[in-house]
Amino acid sequence: MKPIYLDHAASTPVHPEVAGVMLKIMTEQFGNASSVHSFGRSAKKIINGARDRIAASLGCFPEEWVFTSGGTESDNLALFGAAAASVVKGKHIITTRIEHHAVLHTFEVLEKEGYSVTYLPVDSSGLVNVDEVRAALRSDTILISVMFANNEVGSAY
Ligand SMILES: Cc1ncc(COP(=O)(O)O)c(C=O)c1O
Repeated sequence: MKPIYLDHAASTPVHPEVAGVMLKIMTEQFGNASSVHSFGRSAKKIINGARDRIAASLGCFPEEWVFTSGGTESDNLALFGAAAASVVKGKHIITTRIEHHAVLHTFEVLEKEGYSVTYLPVDSSGLVNVDEVRAALRSDTILISVMFANNEVGSAY
């Protein structure tokens, strides 16, 4: 029997068109985009072009989004960043029991740093009850992090 891959929330094949463009850039435009030499300037132009196109499709400013190396780095940057940016307003943060470990471990570190964390449960379908989120809110709540789609059971909002 041929196995069927159902884990696309965690990893998915790259579209051949994207792989083709990436291969070309990785083998031909390898300059350090932070350098001022012509190789670097050429790489920077490509990166900025991609930044502009993605920003236009997301409806945000090009400088509003950040390139990272992957999921864990993104989670860390977003959660530590948001917590630090709002710490003057409060130290209560909310997440769920079924987040990816990259998120849960970040919350554990924040908890050790003195943040108060509420871990919400999920129902038998893996979904969070909105009323429970509402009930968990406090005057010092500064951050809620709930995954849009679960990478293991596939529940999605
Ligand atoms: C929410 C989330 N964070 C982090 C990761 C791990 O990503 P990476 O291996 O790129 O660090 C995953 C992988 O599925 C994820 O779903």
